[in-house]
Amino acid sequence: MAWNRWNLLDLNDWEPDDFHGFVDYALSLAPRLESLPKKPLDSLRGMTVANMFIENSTRTRNSFAAAEQMTGAAYIDWSASGSSMAKGETLRDTVWTLCEMGVNGLVVRHSLTGMPYYIQKLVPHIPVFNAGDGARSHPTQGLLDIVAATRRLGDLKGATVAIIGDVKYSRVARSDVLAFGGMGARVTVSGPRTLLPANPEAFGAKYVPDPRKAVAEADIVMLLRVQLERQEAGLFPSVKEYHALYGANEELLAHAKPGAVVMHPAPINRGVEISSALADGERSLLREQVHCGVLARMAVLDICLGGGKR
Ligand code: CP
Repeated sequence: MAWNRWNLLDLNDWEPDDFHGFVDYALSLAPRLESLPKKPLDSLRGMTVANMFIENSTRTRNSFAAAEQMTGAAYIDWSASGSSMAKGETLRDTVWTLCEMGVNGLVVRHSLTGMPYYIQKLVPHIPVFNAGDGARSHPTQGLLDIVAATRRLGDLKGATVAIIGDVKYSRVARSDVLAFGGMGARVTVSGPRTLLPANPEAFGAKYVPDPRKAVAEADIVMLLRVQLERQEAGLFPSVKEYHALYGANEELLAHAKPGAVVMHPAPINRGVEISSALADGERSLLREQVHCGVLARMAVLDICLGGGKR
């Protein structure tokens, strides 16, 4: 695979060959992470990556840190809370300050859409890796999801992915539509109309109003967290009603194909969009998604910073 990328802001310019080559490469890294002792790549030895999280995270933040260790990079773990931003320092001064410490890459999460693009303009000489911006994009989540799904199911060409829940406010849904679409899968969306984009077809997915029908056609059932922090009030009557109509539980999965798997980017709201029985059950890929997150981020960093695959 010829690879000329040096940063990762979005997946909208990726071609199907890029997605396929990426998944193959990420999966080839698995023995390095899974052997004991681990076998780091070391391709980023001598480099430093700053992880800037201006919005909370458990998975993405620590997964990037694990991937940086597995590629030999040193990392700076920075979060807005506890920083001099609390004293009024601006984001641009913070970015410049960190970059003057010899940083070779910036991982950025921000609650505002487009902020990684803004930061990339501030420091055009340092690659920025989008770790999730507002409701727009979460490219490494899209990538890790196709890595995890391929690992379990094999080739995704012709597979159907049903994304159910809060699609409108989900950056994961946007990145998953691009990533699964790039792998040749068909994506449908289902959920309350108030939590769907105005035109789901323009979003790149077929709208299936009844979640039972969406599940019945699916090889992968992808649940999304109800993102209360990005919503206006009153988009569904109550959590109990949401779960009864759109929540994934054994009753809903009874409509699914026998081999269908359940995914969720997490964090999960147990008992809201997914029941504990499904999240912890045999069909669940939730733990594999976290594991593949390290592989996907190792691959991203190695390809962009370390010359991997070139
Ligand atoms: N899936 C995901 O982005 O999780 P975090 O918010 O914990 O990083």
